[in-house]
Amino acid sequence: MSIILGIESSCDETAAALTKDGKLLANVISSQADIHAKYGGVMPEVASRLHVENIGVVLKETMEKAGIGYEELDAIAFTRGPGLIGSLHAGVEAAKALALLYKKPLVPVHHLAGHIYANEYVDSFSFPLLAVVVSGGNTELVLMERDLDFKVIGETKDDAVGESFDKVARIVGLPYPGGLPIDLHAQKGKPVYDFPVQKLHHVPGTEKYDYSFSYSGLKTAVLNFVEHKRAKGESYDLDDLCASFTKAAIDPIVERMKAAAKEYHVKQVVLAGGVSANSYLRSEAAKALEGTGIHLTIPPLWCTTDNAAMIAKVGEKLFASGITCSLDVDVDPNWQIEDFKEF
Ligand code: KG4
Repeated sequence: MSIILGIESSCDETAAALTKDGKLLANVISSQADIHAKYGGVMPEVASRLHVENIGVVLKETMEKAGIGYEELDAIAFTRGPGLIGSLHAGVEAAKALALLYKKPLVPVHHLAGHIYANEYVDSFSFPLLAVVVSGGNTELVLMERDLDFKVIGETKDDAVGESFDKVARIVGLPYPGGLPIDLHAQKGKPVYDFPVQKLHHVPGTEKYDYSFSYSGLKTAVLNFVEHKRAKGESYDLDDLCASFTKAAIDPIVERMKAAAKEYHVKQVVLAGGVSANSYLRSEAAKALEGTGIHLTIPPLWCTTDNAAMIAKVGEKLFASGITCSLDVDVDPNWQIEDFKEF
């Protein structure tokens, strides 16, 4: 039972949240997305400057909404990584300043653990559990045999799936971030164009599946398709292109999810990260697990985007198991989820 302040600043959302005995009292997010949209992607320098400008106001609003004073906190949890180095620093320095001033313990939280545990605001977890972590920076299948235990059983070899949505949006002239606009067009289209789908295959010479992903080839295939059409003066249907790309991007995730859930005898699958907002992924994941007895948790949309409620949630668990760090802790832009206790 504790009062935890969570701080998140790994990319382009400056966020803080407060939980008391697991209950979310305040969840404040200041998004920079409109500003980065002008550049067609997140500008790291701009992002870190805006975090520094906004963090004070976000923290003030969080504490006021929750009706809690800093002196009442049990711990301050913050995103230590992965993410953009300058962005991470802004949140970590704010957390350290508060910890120093109010003599509070610091709890370093892995951003993807946060995305996974955001689901605990809406559902309880049954283990073994498979988390499908799909975001702008990551595409991972994470197996959890128990609470706070993460094993990556598949990840992308190049681009993340969200990154491919953003890049394809750019190719076809849709705004950044590209996930939602592509999703909306795809809902009106049919997957009539043929883009390469990465089929699930066995690790050579074994019976085990290779759960890795790759998205750079798909992005190039869309680029070639659009350039070819332009060169020949032909048009294409944007809705159909979005539906075709979405199918090629999401089907491999659903196929791997289903096979891994079966192989590892999981009781539950949770979707996590920004791309888990995708309507095709949500409906296909539900269809794939229908009749298997495996419980699927589809997060509400507010849980899919970056927020600090998820950081406070993991922070509370870590703090309860005695995991804290000293004031000289540093950020880790490439922190692996399996190493979440190493800092
Ligand atoms: O989790 P997130 O906020 O960022 C990271 O922590 O990396 O995810 C952002 C990503 C972006 O790439 C965005 O285009 C994608 O999530 N996204 C979507 C949808 N909504 C957001 N991708 C597909 N379909 C959506 N509806």
